[in-house]
This record gives sequence, C-alpha cells and structure tokens, in this order.
Amino acid sequence: MRNEILVLQGITKRFPGVVALDDVSFSLRQGEVHALVGENGAGKSTLMKVLTGMNSPESGKILIDGVSHSSLTIQSAKTLGISMIYQELNSIQMLTIFENIFFGREYKRGGLLDRKRMIAEADRLLLEFELNIPSTRKMAEITVAYQQIVEIIKAVSSNVRILIMDEPTAPLSIDEVKMLYRLVGKLKEAGVSIVYISHRLEEIFQIADRITVFRDGRHIATHDIGDTNEESLIKEMVGRELSNQYPPRVDLPLGPNILQIKRLSTSKIKDVSLRLRQGEILGIGGLIGSGRTELLRAIFGADRILSGEVYLGTRNVSIKSPFDAIRCGVALIPEDRKQHGLLLKMSVEDNIIFSSLKKFMKGLMLNAAQISDAVGGAIVRLAIKTPGPKQLVKYLSGGNQQKVVLAKWMESNAQVYLFDEPTRGIDVGAKYEIYELMNTLKSNGKGIIMVSSDMQELIGMSDRILVMKDGQVSGELKRDEITQENILKHASKKHLPRAMEWREEE
Ligand SMILES: Nc1ncnc2c1ncn2[C@@H]1O[C@H](COP(=O)(O)OP(=O)(O)OP(=O)(O)O)[C@@H](O)[C@H]1O
Ligand SMILES: [Mg+2]
Repeated sequence: MRNEILVLQGITKRFPGVVALDDVSFSLRQGEVHALVGENGAGKSTLMKVLTGMNSPESGKILIDGVSHSSLTIQSAKTLGISMIYQELNSIQMLTIFENIFFGREYKRGGLLDRKRMIAEADRLLLEFELNIPSTRKMAEITVAYQQIVEIIKAVSSNVRILIMDEPTAPLSIDEVKMLYRLVGKLKEAGVSIVYISHRLEEIFQIADRITVFRDGRHIATHDIGDTNEESLIKEMVGRELSNQYPPRVDLPLGPNILQIKRLSTSKIKDVSLRLRQGEILGIGGLIGSGRTELLRAIFGADRILSGEVYLGTRNVSIKSPFDAIRCGVALIPEDRKQHGLLLKMSVEDNIIFSSLKKFMKGLMLNAAQISDAVGGAIVRLAIKTPGPKQLVKYLSGGNQQKVVLAKWMESNAQVYLFDEPTRGIDVGAKYEIYELMNTLKSNGKGIIMVSSDMQELIGMSDRILVMKDGQVSGELKRDEITQENILKHASKKHLPRAMEWREEE
C-alpha cells in the first residue's frame, strides 16, 4: 500500500448553531484520487478549509508526513504544498490571467515585476493545459469554465503535493470534463495526491481510487472504489433508500404559447426563434460557448437586443432590462449565483422574499406571519440546511446557497422560468426536490426553459429540446427523439480547432 501523506484524526469544528464537523477522520495516500461526497452542508468544504488553514478546528490532529499539527495557517499549508480550488471561484476578475497565476509569487527582475517572463511562462502553461488564450486577457473576459482551468493551473504551477478540488466540474461541459480528467491523470503520475469533491457520482467512479462519505458532519464510510456502487453510496449519503433520481414525468396536455421569440439577436446569439407552451419544459442543450446562457440573458433583458421580437402570450413586449422582465413575469435563475443571484450579506429570509415583497404586503406593512410561513415552507421543502431563517446567506454551504436562489424565485409569481444549470452543485436528494418543484410549476401552467450540461437531467426532464451551436439553434428534438446521441450530433463542432472556438466566443 502506498504511504499516507496526510491523516486527519478526530477533527471537530463548530459554527454558531451548527456542528459542521463532528469527530471526523480522513486520510490521503500519495498519488491517489480520494473522492469526498455527501449532501449539501455535510461538512466537505469545511474539512478541506481545515487543511488549507482557512478554518482552525476546535479539536483533532492533522498529520502531514507523520508530523502532527493541531491546526494549520494559510502560510504553513502553502509551504506544505497544500492547494485548494474553491467551490466559489476566487480569482481576481480585474486582473489578467497571468497576474492571477503568479499572484503572491511574482517573478521580479532588478526589483521590478518581470512581466515578460511571467507572460511567457503563463502562455506556456495555458498551452500545456490545452487552452489557447493569451494570458494577458482579464479573468472577467473568459468563461467560468476557463477561469476554473486557470485556477487549476495556478495551483499546479506552485509545487503542489496535495490538491483539493471542490466540485471542479460543476461549471464544465463534456469536453472540458474530459480535459480535466486528463489533467488529473497527469497530476497523479507526478505523485500529487488529490481530494476530489463532487456531487456527480458517475464521474467519481471514473477517476477516484477511494471514496469517503460524510453525513451531517460525520464520517460514515471509506471504500476502495471497486468495493462500492452508486446505489449504496447514495444510501450512505442520504441515510435512506432513494430509488429514483427523477420524479415520475408529468405529461399534461400543453396549453397555449406562453412565450414566443422571433429571430432574436444580441452580440452573442443570432436569429434565435422559439416558442414555449404553458406546462412545458423546454431544454436547451449545447456545448460551453454555444450561447445557451446568452439566450436566457437575452430573454431576461440582461444583454442588449439588436433585433427580434418577444411575445408573452399574444402580447408583443419589449424587455430592455431585468427589471422589465420581472415586471412581465419572467424569472431567471442564473448559473453564477454568487454574482447574480444572491445578496450574501443578507439573511436567508430576506433573500427569499426580496423579489416578491409586494405579495407579502398587508397595507403598508409586511405581513410577518405570511413571510414566516412562506420562508419556513421553502426551508423545509428544499431541505435548506440553516440554523434558521435569519442566518446570513454567506454562511451557508455552496449547495444550500443555491437552494435559496431557487426558493426566492419560487415565491415570485412568474409565468416563465429561465433556469440556468438549476441543480449544479446540488446533492442527489435535493435534486429530486427541485425536479418536483419544476413539475409543480408545470402543473400550474407555467413555462420553463432549462439550460443544463447534465445530460441525464436534460433528457430526464425536458419535454422538448433545442440544441444550440455557435449562438444559433442547430436542432430541435421532440420528446421521442431525445437521446444523448441526437443532442451531441447537433451540438458538436468537431470541425473547429480550439483556437477558433475561443475566438468565436468573444
Ligand atoms: N463560516 C461559517 N459560519 C457559519 N456556518 C458555517 C460556516 N461555514 C460553514 N458553515 C456551516 O457548516 C455546515 C457544513 O458546510 P460545508 O460548506 O462544509 O458543507 P458542504 O459539505 O461543503 O456542502 P455543499 O455540498 O453544499 O458545498 C453547513 O451547515 C454550513 O452552513
Ligand atoms: Mg461545499
């Protein structure tokens, strides 16, 4: 057996009202990929932040190469070669790619920054990781997927021995995931040990050597990957049998058109036409950069419309801003919740009621009882793990923050829901709840457009699918034509080299 370079014993960490880690143990062997799984709020990120010196535990021991520490500091973790790619990307948006890669360890020459050398080195690393982008671009100008890869490059290029990836593939599509797997393979060969946190079990079976399950801040089990299977893992994660990942299909006769767009163009999409009927879930497939998110943003008035028409019902409307959209009954649940979906410094309750204040007014006052019913109901329905409705959203785990965004829009009385990657980072149990919520919306005659890179979800939930490619609709699949093969056929742009793909996205 390869030696264990890291052993965590009896780690306990409390936050006000929460025991995030309760006497947990964990170990990591040299050159292994050790997956860490568990429901939202199980304590995965908290444990990893103990390793990077962000959290100091109340009790327990951290053994690295046999040397015992009661806690680490950010500096000592760095010196020991521990690096983490955070679930919430923390790159500096206004800086360039190379500045991010070399942040805190800049090359200098005669006391001055050696830009030339950093750029050359960063360009070389980008190419090595199959990203054909100049490193002088600003982070803000590249997609979330590319930002993720830059973060990985940053970690890898600084002599990492233990690399922690917190849901690395959440924002990636099929191509990028494959690239990430290759990258993980290379790192393993170089003897790097990897902790891999993910809610996508099928990918864990592809790349992990061992797997550890947490539930409610406790260590439940550790297995060699060959000794377990998806079903028993799910049972260990949720603590009960979960036989179906999708609720039964709701097949209602569809109502009249609720939304229709005709030849809509922005700087990112071209001549997109579609119609959505009451009670319908229209799935949008396609690769990263194909214009899926941009389509939703256009409908929501977040990007400038160059031409085209939008009809709600039979009414021709002009949506020039998200404010117009909300007023017209269109809701967007964005992909990047941290930036667009949440007020982090406000409470769970305030976030949930924020966009539907009118509904909670009684005369000139807010109706406290009605608010507490609605918020309490949402917390229970979506199993939002929080000590209470007054907890600030910034203290919730990644997946639970996402549930708050969903709860917020469920409270609003929208007619059309635009979901961008609705279950990204959400655990299996809660995914089911979200699918049920979508079905409820359907039954209530709402219309849903859903962008998803999760093939199973797209196929499992959509009544019809439009596939996008290069900012245009490249195919439409009716219910009985929906297969992975058909989606990929319309989505693929194999004939394009990567460099081209990049240029097109600008
Ligand atoms: N700084 C903090 N203050 C208060 N509570 C916190 C803080 N950080 C984490 N928690 C709580 O600790 C628990 C564990 O959170 P953690 O982020 O480790 O979960 P996770 O397993 O990573 O979940 P997810 O899959 O949603 O990312 C949660 O209940 C969370 O709300
Ligand atoms: Mg987490």
